[in-house]
Amino acid sequence: MAEVWPIEQVVLVGFMGSGKTSVGAELALRLGWPHLDTDEIIERAERRKISDIFQNSGEQYFRTLEARATGALAAQKEVLISTGGGWMMDPRLPAMLRPAATLVWLEVSAEQALHRLGGTEARDCRPLLASPDPEATVRRMLAEREPIYRTADHAISTDGLSVADVATEIEMLLRSHQ
Ligand code: S3P
Repeated sequence: MAEVWPIEQVVLVGFMGSGKTSVGAELALRLGWPHLDTDEIIERAERRKISDIFQNSGEQYFRTLEARATGALAAQKEVLISTGGGWMMDPRLPAMLRPAATLVWLEVSAEQALHRLGGTEARDCRPLLASPDPEATVRRMLAEREPIYRTADHAISTDGLSVADVATEIEMLLRSHQ
């Protein structure tokens, strides 16, 4: 596929629990591209977990790191990038990768996101959900963010689909837009 592939970067965006990291890993394998995850890049650079960064340095600092990590990805070609759920909320970040990048929104309902994020461990990794009422938080944040996710180049509905199913849908979609 790579020899006729005109797309330089594929960037997965969407809410927490939409499957960006797991689908990204699967899709990158299929494309034969490296998989880069902005949250992982940040954790590696900081040598600490996202939850630690939020707790001890604050969300604003995390967002600065997210912008820095994105800037460093701009020159990379033929890479699959998974982002954090808030990545698109600052328009400067997608602008750093566009127009070379194709942004794919992994759409997820509040119910499905809550189901996928149901485990305590999954929630512990996501400081923004550490609220007394995670369900209300997910619904509110999703409602606020959906109009922005919608500005991605493509949308894939992930509810009820496996990681492999979603990867296949994206692969087909990308091929059809060659
Ligand atoms: C965030 C989502 C997280 C991580 C950070 C902030 C958000 O990534 O970047 O906790 O603002 O939605 P995932 O979407 O991979 O959980």
